Amino acid sequence: PYLNSLLSQDCETPQLNPVMEPLSWMLGTWLSDPPGDGTFPTMKPFQYLEEVHISHVGQPMLNFSFNAFHPDTRKPMHRECGFIRLKPDTNKVAFISAQNTGLVEVEEGEVNGQELSIASHSIARISFAKKPHVEQITRKFRLNSDGKLEQTVSMATTTQPMTQHLHITYKKV
Ligand code: HEM
Repeated sequence: PYLNSLLSQDCETPQLNPVMEPLSWMLGTWLSDPPGDGTFPTMKPFQYLEEVHISHVGQPMLNFSFNAFHPDTRKPMHRECGFIRLKPDTNKVAFISAQNTGLVEVEEGEVNGQELSIASHSIARISFAKKPHVEQITRKFRLNSDGKLEQTVSMATTTQPMTQHLHITYKKV
């Protein structure tokens, strides 16, 4: 609703564009439950909270934001937002994300049932991005039989091969 005030159907949720039906299971506001697990060979394992919004305005795309917080202090941490597109009449998906770390990425992959698997296709970053730089990203989203959404993120950096960085499950709120 906060961004829909200029829509002609103000306050009414527009109909989901039929193109996006295969990804309708991602829609909603989601909260980490339990806290997410962060890992990587170069760092001490950590936990985080995350609030996710996945919505649409009737266009053939989804809007998303992922907002991570420190589990104790609730200080905002990693944030990213963007769009998810589906190539009409296929299961081919594009995931376009801008991250607060100065990274912008495009991932592509496939939706199969209630599972979305994507891998980075291009990554751009600000000239003064923190090192080591990420070189490749893969993600998997899945709606589990208990209604929880699950995300797993792996990455390769200039110093480490492809390894899991994040695993989190969310409950719908
Ligand atoms: C560290 C990338 C999401 C928390 C890092 C590093 C990279 C990275 C390249 C440095 C690794 C190293 O030093 O070897 C990414 C990418 C993300 C992502 C590409 C999303 C696609 C997140 C999220 C959190 C998070 C959601 C949740 C809070 C951290 C923390 C560190 C870290 C705590 C270690 C301290 C630091 O370097 O800031 N991440 N990250 N990351 N990431 Fe992520």
